[in-house]
Amino acid sequence: MKMRIFLVTCVVLLCFLGVCQGGNLRKNFYRDSCPQAEDIIQSKTQKHVSANPALPAKLIRMHFHDCFVRGCDASVLLKSTANNTAERDAIPNLTLAGFDVIDDIKSALEDKCPKIVSCADILALAARDAVSVQFNKSMWEVLTGRRDGTVSLSGEALANIPAPFFNFTQLTQSFSSKGLTLHDLVVLSGAHTIGIGHCNLFSNRLYNFTGKGDQDPSLNSTYAEFLKTKCKSQSDTTTTVEMDPGSSTKFDSDYYPNLIQKKGLFQSDAALLTTKESANIAAELVAQNKFFTEFSQSMKKLGAIGVLTGSAGEIRIKCSVVN
Ligand code: HEM
Ligand SMILES: *[C@@H]1O[C@H](CO)[C@@H](O)[C@H](O)[C@H]1NC(C)=O
Ligand SMILES: *[C@@H]1O[C@H](CO)[C@@H](O)[C@H](O)[C@H]1NC(C)=O
Ligand SMILES: *[C@@H]1O[C@H](CO)[C@@H](O)[C@H](O)[C@H]1NC(C)=O
Ligand SMILES: *[C@@H]1O[C@H](CO)[C@@H](O)[C@H](O)[C@H]1NC(C)=O
Ligand SMILES: *[C@@H]1O[C@H](CO)[C@@H](O)[C@H](O)[C@H]1NC(C)=O
Ligand SMILES: *[C@@H]1O[C@H](CO)[C@@H](O)[C@H](O)[C@H]1NC(C)=O
Repeated sequence: MKMRIFLVTCVVLLCFLGVCQGGNLRKNFYRDSCPQAEDIIQSKTQKHVSANPALPAKLIRMHFHDCFVRGCDASVLLKSTANNTAERDAIPNLTLAGFDVIDDIKSALEDKCPKIVSCADILALAARDAVSVQFNKSMWEVLTGRRDGTVSLSGEALANIPAPFFNFTQLTQSFSSKGLTLHDLVVLSGAHTIGIGHCNLFSNRLYNFTGKGDQDPSLNSTYAEFLKTKCKSQSDTTTTVEMDPGSSTKFDSDYYPNLIQKKGLFQSDAALLTTKESANIAAELVAQNKFFTEFSQSMKKLGAIGVLTGSAGEIRIKCSVVN
């Protein structure tokens, strides 16, 4: 009995020290094994972002999709094989992009330190570094030591990636199944301050919300008129719109004032206003400093979901195929 109390106390203490949040991840895992790793990832990422300002959105979304399916194990990067349809070929993969950037970073790392740096860590760091470019400082801490999985199933992406049509209950269930709170849900949705969305993922809200040719009453009607000029019909699957009109490459807290004015693009965005508690969280996050602080903490939790560490998994040589 005493032993049990002692052990529980130890676990609680370690949690306070931040060990349990990141599992066995740690700061600068590659300090001895590949000291240049984080610098290489950062400088490569910066180069790619300066050529393509849309990249930060692609990489952070890819990291999110990775972490929600089998944990952050780079399973999202694996290509389908003759026998298996992988996550990246599942329906929610729509416009996942940036695979080539991860491959480029990986090959630079393989030159310097072969078989040392995992694809899962590369993705976590590159997502952070890409979003951080405009600030010239790291916007959140990324612990490292993830290892790569060997399994990627399209069906699991479908089952685990929340859909833009999700309501509040479905969203909170999805996040809590990954150990994330309502607070994390509202905070991480703020990533929709950058990037684009395809018309067909929200045009039901413009044209035929309940099957009666109506509009979603939770969508700002002025904004709906604007969106209709972009998405001319409900069957348009190719046109994209900026999620934060006018500043879709700028990472800031604009998502929240937009959301509060009923200008969230997806039903899943609008759903965040449906309870008092979540609406209050959104209201607090309008303050940019608050948003950045909270985002940094929630990203750390996201990046620790279901990670493989120690001798689990492998260090892939090429991020798109298992060894
Ligand atoms: C809360 C549940 C979420 C839902 C239902 C959701 C859904 C979506 C959808 C449908 C798109 C548009 C994809 C397209 O049309 O190409 C999108 C884009 C995006 N999502 Fe989310 N998302 C969620 C949470 C997150 C989280 C947690 C992050 C990151 C921390 C994130 C980051 C992004 C980014 C950056 C884009 C823009 C991608 C681009 O520009 O290509 N999302 N999301
Ligand atoms: C695919 O399936 C075939 C036959 O079932 C098997 O011989 C082969 O090893 C499998 N390939 C992979 C990559 O799993
Ligand atoms: C996404 O999946 C579809 C099939 O559902 C596939 O045609 C497409 O190439 C995939 N996109 C990427 C970027 O892998
Ligand atoms: C970015 O930060 C680094 C130090 O972290 C500094 O040396 C450099 O001058 C900064 N660049 C700009 C454009 O501010
Ligand atoms: C949310 O969606 C689920 C599945 O469609 C449904 O069963 C549930 O009633 C919805 N909840 C609310 C509050 O609308
Ligand atoms: C709206 O949806 C209903 C039910 O799905 C369908 O019968 C109707 O044709 C749609 N109307 C338009 C204008 O697309
Ligand atoms: C809808 O958007 C308009 C124009 O941007 C804004 O003035 C108005 O306050 C918004 N409506 C609501 C209900 O927030």
